[in-house]
Amino acid sequence: MAGKPILIDCDPGQDDAVMLLLAMASPEELDILGITTVAGNVPLALTQRNARLMCELGGQPGLKVFAGCARPLVRGLITAEEVHGRTGIDGFEIYEPTMPLQPQHGVDFIIETLLAADDDAITVVPTGPLTNVAMAMVKEPKVLPKIREIVLMGGAMREGGNTSPSAEFNILVDPHAAHVVFRCGRPITVLGLDLTHQALTTPQRSRDIGGIGNKAGTVVQRMLEFYNRHDIEKYGSEGGPLHDPCTIAYLLRPDLFRGKHVNVEVEIQAELTMGATVVDFWGVTDRPRNANWLHKIDDAGFYDLLVERLARLP
Ligand code: RIB
Ligand code: CA
Repeated sequence: MAGKPILIDCDPGQDDAVMLLLAMASPEELDILGITTVAGNVPLALTQRNARLMCELGGQPGLKVFAGCARPLVRGLITAEEVHGRTGIDGFEIYEPTMPLQPQHGVDFIIETLLAADDDAITVVPTGPLTNVAMAMVKEPKVLPKIREIVLMGGAMREGGNTSPSAEFNILVDPHAAHVVFRCGRPITVLGLDLTHQALTTPQRSRDIGGIGNKAGTVVQRMLEFYNRHDIEKYGSEGGPLHDPCTIAYLLRPDLFRGKHVNVEVEIQAELTMGATVVDFWGVTDRPRNANWLHKIDDAGFYDLLVERLARLP
């Protein structure tokens, strides 16, 4: 049986890179219709290149990779080289990928693919700023009924912000795009920092990944060793959070997660709290419950899944 059709939108970034590898390693469950890239962790020229490098590492140079928006809808671009390094995937030995970048704009590819699908057919998996997804919804609202579910990494509740005191990076970079997506009316599953900060790549888990013995495991261990240092130092934690692969893990093994349907709104007025995700977890308002807010992960089960799937790659 063909896997669940998914559109991935990302800003690689080491954790996006591991997300792509996990998705590529799961063809029975997931049918990757295309990968669109957005400016975020690093500028678009690098995120689109990095996505293609991961397709080649995953042994799938035939996947279609598109460049989307080079900046947020309204605000100026914020990048995160201090976390990801100048290349966006420091720890990886960069080369110029041979697989082509698709000529079509990523937003147009999202629109074209969704319009060609049946209603409720396609799962959209954004793991970067939501600029491309929002642009597709604004440019062609007819795409909305085609979306089965949006499974996104972004936002924060009790964890607070990781980029401002109140906002998580993906939402803060493009809060207006996030506002559009959270109000689109389609089913949204949100993996915020409250969840992803439970998924820490500890030294033992890093050794387990490096011990797989294939190229993918070796490269992932090297990328994460670079990427983890920032959050270990910042939070004094035992490991760095592996944010983006949690989205794919949710699609593969939803039993590893616990969520609650709540209202989530995005702050787009106040500069002090710009990009904050305001989560009505206890239902104290009558605002619509527009999101399945995931708040618990079986982190041991997640890493077992990750190691098992990375071992399937070249
Ligand atoms: O805040 C973490 C998120 O921002 C992750 O998706 C990371 O890759 C960056 O995009
Ligand atoms: Ca990301």
